[in-house]
Parts: sequence; structure tokens; C-alpha cells
Amino acid sequence: MKILLLGKNGQVGWELQRSLAPLGELLALDSKSTAYCGDLNDLQGIAATIRSFAPNVIVNAAAYTSVDKAESEPEQAQRINAEAVAVLAQEAHKLGAWLLHYSTDYVFDGSGAMPWQETAAVGPLSVYGASKLAGEQAIQASGCRHLIFRTSWVYAARGNNFAKTMLRLAQERDSLNVIADQFGAPTGAELLADVTAHALRSIQQQPELAGLYHLAAAGETNWYNYARFVLEQAEAAGVTLKVAPSQLGSIATSAYPTAAKRPLNSRLNTEKLQHAFALQLPDWQTGVARMLIEVLEKSA
Ligand SMILES: NC(=O)c1ccc[n+]([C@@H]2O[C@H](COP(=O)([O-])OP(=O)(O)OC[C@H]3O[C@@H](n4cnc5c(N)ncnc54)[C@H](OP(=O)(O)O)[C@@H]3O)[C@@H](O)[C@H]2O)c1
Repeated sequence: MKILLLGKNGQVGWELQRSLAPLGELLALDSKSTAYCGDLNDLQGIAATIRSFAPNVIVNAAAYTSVDKAESEPEQAQRINAEAVAVLAQEAHKLGAWLLHYSTDYVFDGSGAMPWQETAAVGPLSVYGASKLAGEQAIQASGCRHLIFRTSWVYAARGNNFAKTMLRLAQERDSLNVIADQFGAPTGAELLADVTAHALRSIQQQPELAGLYHLAAAGETNWYNYARFVLEQAEAAGVTLKVAPSQLGSIATSAYPTAAKRPLNSRLNTEKLQHAFALQLPDWQTGVARMLIEVLEKSA
């Protein structure tokens, strides 16, 4: 099997380099790759890469992910998250290749408190969310064989993420307030990469599994309780904090204005995925605790 991975150095892309490697011949690219074009800004270059490498599977971990910046750069977000994805889908369709792609809880409007099912009505609140939704729709319209995984609150030991930011701020600042009215599940890049590899094997035997799935760690939390969990783990590991977990303040989204509006309810119902692929998704705390051990060991 020939696999083309795009966005190899992102949080998810980095873990996919590991999880996809044993499955076949892997060509992993980023926007700066030279032998083959891996830049999603270059639509013709990307199409040429696919035609020349002729993969059986394209895994797209590249995306425009700067949620707030997208509000002032809508064309750029649309180009990477929708137009380039449409090219991937059209080329995959011509080749008869599979396209594996990631989308987001930000396609929803965040109303209510029930976990979103795949069939729920979408209503993105931000440019980023709308561009990711347009990417999903381009894949679905292309007729290519595909898997789309909508996920939420991605973190990894490598790169920047919310947990690492909280850890740093609690060591630097005298007080810290965190939003307590947005709900979702922190999901590890490792988990996403492992489930992707598992799903890739499954679809070779069962192509009828193609479609859209919600993929997030089990359980739910809000940013405040997520931050508190991070600080408790750090404290237990002997890290000296200026803001103890019990001193963490909670605030409402309305008290922390950002350029992009975020959904209050980012809970994703993952039953369809767990049933289709015979998987049991672990709770979010397990993965976050593992990531923190790695981060703290590196900084020790
Ligand atoms: N992060 C989250 O909380 C979250 C939540 C829900 C869904 N998702 C989705 O999950 C997927 C993976 O996200 P992630 O967290 O791994 O994102 P990430 O760490 O920001 O990685 C995105 C990657 O895309 C690359 N990229 C950006 N523009 C590119 C271009 N023009 N050509 C080629 N590559 C380009 C970036 O490379 P450079 O840095 O070199 O530009 C980066 O390596 C994305 O589809 C994202 O929308 C993420």
C-alpha cells in the first residue's frame, strides 16, 4: 500500500508518521518539502504530487488551524481548508484512492448540552469552522472513497497546546482565570493517529465503512476543569506553581473576548465510530496525564 501523508509536522501529522509507517510505503510531506510539493497553497503542485506518487491512500493532516487569525484571513483559510481539500478529493477520486481527512467540532453552533451526532445540523460560528465544513462538503461531493474524522481540543507532547500554556502560566503568574462554560473532550494526537491506522486497515476489508465519524476521547470537561487537572498532575509531580489548582479562577466566555466565536457545546457523540470500527475510546484524562509526564520529564 502506498500512503501519502500531508502536514507531517503538525500535532497529528507527527504522530501519523509513526502510526502509518508499518502499513506500507509512506511518503510524508510538509509545506516545505522539495522532492514532491506538499504545499496546500499550491493546488497544481499538490495535484502533480498525487498523480506522480499515485498513492492508494491520502492522509491529510495539514490545515489552516489559526482559529482567531482566520477571521482576518478568510481567503487563506478557505484555500487550505476547502479549495486544497477539494483538489485532494478530486485527485483521489480519479485514482480510486482513499482520502482520510480531519475536521472539527467547530462546524457546530455549540447550542444545547447533548453530544453532537454526525447527522446533527451544522452551523459554524467562525471563519475557521466554515472553511473546515466547506472541506468536508467538497470531499463528500467529489465521490471519492473517504473517511472524515471530526475531532476536538487536540493536544500533543510536541508543539504548543492549552495544557502546556496553563502549566507555564501557573508558574509565571500570580493569578489565572480559565473559561468554564465551553465543554468538550481533549483528544490526543496519538489517539487520532492510532485510530487512523486502525481504520485504514479496517477499510481495506470493509470499504462500506467509508463516511463521516466523530472521534474524540471519552468523557467531557470544560477548559477550567481541564486546566485544574493539568495543575493537579503537575503539583503531584513536584512542580512548583505560583497558582495552585485550588486558586484557579473560572470565568465565562463572555469575559474573554476573542476574534473568533467558539462553540459552548463541543461534545461529540462517538458511538458510530466505536461501533463501526470495534473500538473503545479511552477517557481524556489518561492521555492528558501521559502527555504531561512526557512534557515534565523533558523540562526536568
Ligand atoms: N488543534 C485542534 O484543537 C483541532 C481540533 C479539531 C480539529 N482539528 C483538525 O485536526 C487536524 C490536525 O490538526 P493539528 O492540531 O495537528 O494542527 P497543527 O498542529 O496546527 O498542524 C497543522 C499542519 O498543517 C500544516 N500546514 C498549514 N498550512 C499548510 C500548507 N499551506 N501546506 C501544507 N501544510 C500546511 C502546518 O505546517 P506549518 O506549521 O509548516 O505551516 C502544520 O504542520 C486539522 O485538520 C485540524 O483542523 C484540530
